[in-house]
Amino acid sequence: MRLGVCYYPEHWPESMWEDDARRMKALGIEQVRIAEFAWSRIEPTPGEYDWAWLDRAVEVLGAAGLQVVMCTPTATPPKWLIDRHPDILPIGADGRPRAFGSRRHYDFSSPSYFAASQKICTAIAERYGKHPAVAYWQTDNEFGCHHTVVSYSPAAVARFREWLRARYKTVDALNRAWGTVFWSMEYRSFDEIDAPVATVTEAHPSHRLDYRRFASDEVARYNRMQVEIIRAHSPGRPVAHNFMQLFTEFDHYKVAADLDVATWDSYPLGALEEQWFAPEVKARWLRSGHPDFASFNHDVYRGMSKLPFWVMEQQPGPVNWAMWNPAPLPGMVRLWSWEAFAHGAGCVSYFRWRQAPFAQEQMHAGLNTPDNRLDVGGSEAEQVAKNIRTVLAANADANAAVRSKVALVYDYEAKWLFEIHPQGADFHYPRFAFEYYSALRALGLDVDVVPVDASFDGYSMIVVPPLPMVPADFAARLASSGAQVVFGPRTGSKTQDLQIPANLPPGPLADVLPLRVWRVESMRPNVTEPVLGAGTQEPDAAIGHARHWRDLIESRDAHAFDVLARFADGHPACVRSGAFHYFASLFDDSLTVRLFAQIAQRAGIQTHPLGESVRISRRGALTYVFNYGDTAHTLTDVAEDRFVIGSSTVPPQGVAVYRSN
Ligand code: GAL
Repeated sequence: MRLGVCYYPEHWPESMWEDDARRMKALGIEQVRIAEFAWSRIEPTPGEYDWAWLDRAVEVLGAAGLQVVMCTPTATPPKWLIDRHPDILPIGADGRPRAFGSRRHYDFSSPSYFAASQKICTAIAERYGKHPAVAYWQTDNEFGCHHTVVSYSPAAVARFREWLRARYKTVDALNRAWGTVFWSMEYRSFDEIDAPVATVTEAHPSHRLDYRRFASDEVARYNRMQVEIIRAHSPGRPVAHNFMQLFTEFDHYKVAADLDVATWDSYPLGALEEQWFAPEVKARWLRSGHPDFASFNHDVYRGMSKLPFWVMEQQPGPVNWAMWNPAPLPGMVRLWSWEAFAHGAGCVSYFRWRQAPFAQEQMHAGLNTPDNRLDVGGSEAEQVAKNIRTVLAANADANAAVRSKVALVYDYEAKWLFEIHPQGADFHYPRFAFEYYSALRALGLDVDVVPVDASFDGYSMIVVPPLPMVPADFAARLASSGAQVVFGPRTGSKTQDLQIPANLPPGPLADVLPLRVWRVESMRPNVTEPVLGAGTQEPDAAIGHARHWRDLIESRDAHAFDVLARFADGHPACVRSGAFHYFASLFDDSLTVRLFAQIAQRAGIQTHPLGESVRISRRGALTYVFNYGDTAHTLTDVAEDRFVIGSSTVPPQGVAVYRSN
């Protein structure tokens, strides 16, 4: 457990650097991330590198006893490079290049950019790869930010054709897989296939899905190129990338497979404002963030990181980029930091050391104000550093790995498929995955977030949010784990080519769950359907409501499953066959919690219902309690002498840490 900070020496007079480094160290910071946007200073004119300033910055930080996280500067290609190679600019859906003048203005498929990136990455890796102060690397910055995964450039289309050729081998196979006979869309060669854009109406969904898969693979290819260069010149230094919160535009598992550390950038207030949450939910958690939002991301990135994951950028105060930018309640920066550690983080690094008085982010807080005084977030970071020393001194295994009995399957292709083919305008995959996660957390459970191809051994309960495409061996792997399994609606509803399975949904899952989804319907946001407990036909005995979607299901064999809940019109809403459960809809939060609690009980997992504002996590021998609410929370069953931080009365925005036994 340690703290870091993001620092931009190029933004400040050199006369400030030593004092900055000294104050960082005194505050309890151990690592400093630099250079991710510094290309124009590293290579001011083509081929002429100015390393002197960066050498001195690294020296100053190293001399103060700080470790440097060196970044490749490829998120911001300089003006001269764009002017030399305009094909670097990505092409939008409107057919126009995106312009120079902000950041991330590059196309992952551009051969000129690939070559220019190889060159700058090699130069910086050669220069600092073995520098004693450089301990870690970060590739680029936030792949895909500002909608930059997909480009419709000629270079992208050319590479897409090659990608299709490799996947389908023959164009006939592609025509069959996509079903291009529909509307006379058949192709005679791969070279006839363009990007699925600017069509008169909806472009072919399988074409669109493959374009998304291709674009995702391009991100992985580009990252891999950087990682290989860094590893060649900087052996033994872990390589990281900073992913974004709930970002789903490329397959993060594939990119993380090439990294040592998956890190993410945590802005809980900006996220709340920008995501799907209803206005009253946004108002409820305005200055704290949603109690499950950062946690969900921690668990997503923990699951794909070889070394302990990090928060590479932690919100320190108001941000600048959401529609409205409230200030965190006092205590929240500390709470968010501890929550990351409780979920297994190795480092929490604040964005940024000092608020910049110029350019796009001048309204974004730092640990210090632009006039260089410690801001609220800075004081809270200092407190976290002190707490870390207390926790580490009291507990040898405070850095232990998190162990969970519950797994939640999370998939990127599912997001793309439902976006391409929603059938109900608000069928938003990350939201539904988050809601299942949140229900598990409200029961006091620790959750591992895992990919579809994970090994499920060792889990007692596995929750699968709507997952349209399931691997052929999915059911067998789930069954052999012995866990209780829950599938959300629409699971198994499509083949890998985005077609309806021949046996109808749930496709290959029918082996373990002998049901047939014979009709589906989507529901408007203002429509819900009552759900009744099994055996009850009285509308007033509703145990909750269904939203968004209904699968109408029937059994494949007589008595193939037990009906645990029904819709008011008699159709099964929740069924079970052996250890497998199927939810035929998305239920309201309290019904989801209730059903998960029953299933957890069958799995032999103890639940601790927590309500909406208190959350608990366990790591090693310690239990962490977080209070997102407005009133104090009292832990009635924990003796005072077990507390390492705080006490049995956890104040609003408070953190308590106690020995679990
Ligand atoms: C992140 C980004 C940083 C900075 C920050 C502001 O998305 O990586 O460079 O822009 O947001 O909150």
